[in-house]
Amino acid sequence: MGDVVVVGSINRDEVVSVERLPGEGETIAATGRREGVGGKGANQAMAVARTGTAVSLVGAVGPGADGEALRAALADAGVDVTGVTTSPDAETGTAYVFVDAEGRNQIVVAMGANAEVVLDGSGRSRIRSADVLVVQSEVPETVVAEAVGAAADAGTRVVVNLAPYRDAPDVVAVADPLVVNEHEASELLGRTVRDVDDVADARDALLLRCRSAVVTLGAQGAVLVTADGVRHVPSPAPRRVVDTTGAGDAFVGVLAAGLARGLGLRECVEAAAAAGSLSVESPGAGSGYPSFALPDR
Ligand code: RIB
Repeated sequence: MGDVVVVGSINRDEVVSVERLPGEGETIAATGRREGVGGKGANQAMAVARTGTAVSLVGAVGPGADGEALRAALADAGVDVTGVTTSPDAETGTAYVFVDAEGRNQIVVAMGANAEVVLDGSGRSRIRSADVLVVQSEVPETVVAEAVGAAADAGTRVVVNLAPYRDAPDVVAVADPLVVNEHEASELLGRTVRDVDDVADARDALLLRCRSAVVTLGAQGAVLVTADGVRHVPSPAPRRVVDTTGAGDAFVGVLAAGLARGLGLRECVEAAAAAGSLSVESPGAGSGYPSFALPDR
């Protein structure tokens, strides 16, 4: 069975439930408040762990109780956190997340220690011996580039989740696959990508930039783009939508776990789409994920 290394962000998510998201200059009352594990890197590592696949996380937290609590929650979930360092001069990253009654969100992130992540010798050696490396864009660009370079040298497969969007052509070039949502795809390509037809039309442009791509389209599912063609993978409808925070991260984590176990990209995208749908049925990002299923190889 394979293993995954995630290099990425770790946040304490401060989640505020509201009936509806506030408008500009508006003050509204919260209907609830809670905290949980967040950050795209931590969420993706949690999602890998929820499939029962071995995963380690390279990231940073600040000194103090918040960082320790996050480290403990990740370890409890089965994530190897020995690559999570404590940055003495920065606070643990914090995301301020508003979630409305229909599960939609608005998120503002104070990066804190995520801006201090470094890739040391042990991080590089983890990447070299892993089956799959996963990166996103909530840690410094130089760290992502170094991690991807180490993976490329060692033949470790690279999953790049370009979230939030960042202009990083060298990183994107080794992605197999690149995972982007419709907004990130639009920014990457400089054209509007809203639906399956838009992705199909952009196939050549995507494959000029990366080895393979998966464009996630929310309730419309995902579209897999490879040299063999374009395939739409619908998402199963969730029974209820409680919180969409971290649904994209569940998708990425399960996709990476499937690849590490030797599944084909299409099977991985199907499992990832199912995981994304399931994740919205419960509150919270990483800490709210249920177990995710992968087919047998
Ligand atoms: O993708 C969702 C995540 O984005 C949240 O958990 C938040 O921490 C931000 O990083």
